[in-house]
Amino acid sequence: MTIRESSAVVLRAHRTDLAQPPSSVLEVAPVRLPPLGANQVLVENVFQHLIAASGDLMFERSQIPVPTFRIGEPISGTAIGRVVESRAADLPIGTTVLHTAGWREHSVLDAAEAFPVPDGLFPGPEYLLNQGVSAYHGIVDIAAVDDGDIVLVSGAAGGVGSMAAQIARARGAATVIGIAGGAEKCRFLVEDLGLDAAIDYKSEDLDERLDRLAPNGITVFFDTVGGTQFEAALRHAAFGARFALCGTLAGQIGGGQGGHPRLDIMTAIVNEIQIRPFSTRHTPDQVRAWSTHYARWHAEGRITFPHTIVEGGLARAITAQDELLAGVHRGNLIVRLTGPRT
Ligand SMILES: NC(=O)c1ccc[n+]([C@@H]2O[C@H](COP(=O)([O-])OP(=O)(O)OC[C@H]3O[C@@H](n4cnc5c(N)ncnc54)[C@H](OP(=O)(O)O)[C@@H]3O)[C@@H](O)[C@H]2O)c1
Repeated sequence: MTIRESSAVVLRAHRTDLAQPPSSVLEVAPVRLPPLGANQVLVENVFQHLIAASGDLMFERSQIPVPTFRIGEPISGTAIGRVVESRAADLPIGTTVLHTAGWREHSVLDAAEAFPVPDGLFPGPEYLLNQGVSAYHGIVDIAAVDDGDIVLVSGAAGGVGSMAAQIARARGAATVIGIAGGAEKCRFLVEDLGLDAAIDYKSEDLDERLDRLAPNGITVFFDTVGGTQFEAALRHAAFGARFALCGTLAGQIGGGQGGHPRLDIMTAIVNEIQIRPFSTRHTPDQVRAWSTHYARWHAEGRITFPHTIVEGGLARAITAQDELLAGVHRGNLIVRLTGPRT
């Protein structure tokens, strides 16, 4: 059967204010699929990965180093689906593929844009929808976490943070402390992910907790939040501590207040803090480094894939993106777009 009618999530207007929820500028719209060209496939999408940065790409301009979404066009993001029509010899019908043209029921892809998902490595193909490449790059290449480090991770119950905290542990950190919002997320970090401690930034005093948990100072800070959490981390940093700056959730979400921490330069100088912001380009080397370690650590039971699967189609993905930014979910947020074939 040739499918020519489908639907996609389309940007209706740019966001102009961080307080505006993504759902206010998105809608599900019908789209016509072009006929397949040579070496192209039609993919029916099954899982859509939601990430915080998509909200930034709904503004006309963004500092994130990828093009912003355009009004009247489908937005995009990483998804997993099944090939349902094929003009590519290497991607027969039925192949499960990972690609970045998601937020649609169907995607027409060049074969080079569709990456077959290996069978049997993980419990399900959705395990590839993680932000481990960035987490691994930050923890290993930027912060060089090693045996004995005292590591603090902000946004530790989120998509990137939950992987970063576990990678730090797998690299031999002596202590891994996570910061998250709410008692339930903190319980999850300690009991399910095996962190040594978790601090609830919504109800606890960061300075008091860090005084007790890291009396000699943290040696590594993996920061996805910025704002006052960055300032607190600097006050509790050991001499020569390495800061890997990954994100500014405190400035990307809600009213956007708090994305710009004050840098106490004197403290940074005296303690020779190495502050390294980074932006992961997903180079082949970075992707390969993470894929190799992820498969092995997962098989050895040293790492899990914290994720939440929300059931529903594209309309549900739109409201789930609001929920992601509001902190409703934990781990990596995935929306199931279609059910399993019977
Ligand atoms: N540098 C890079 O290469 C790179 C790559 C990927 C992503 N990033 C960045 O990394 C960050 C995390 O991305 P993600 O997709 O994994 O998002 P995420 O952590 O899953 O984002 C959602 C979480 O943000 C937290 N949050 C919301 N408002 C907050 C606030 N004011 N202060 C502190 N936490 C807040 C909430 O957790 P709580 O309930 O715990 O508050 C919520 O669950 C983003 O800034 C993203 O842009 C950077």
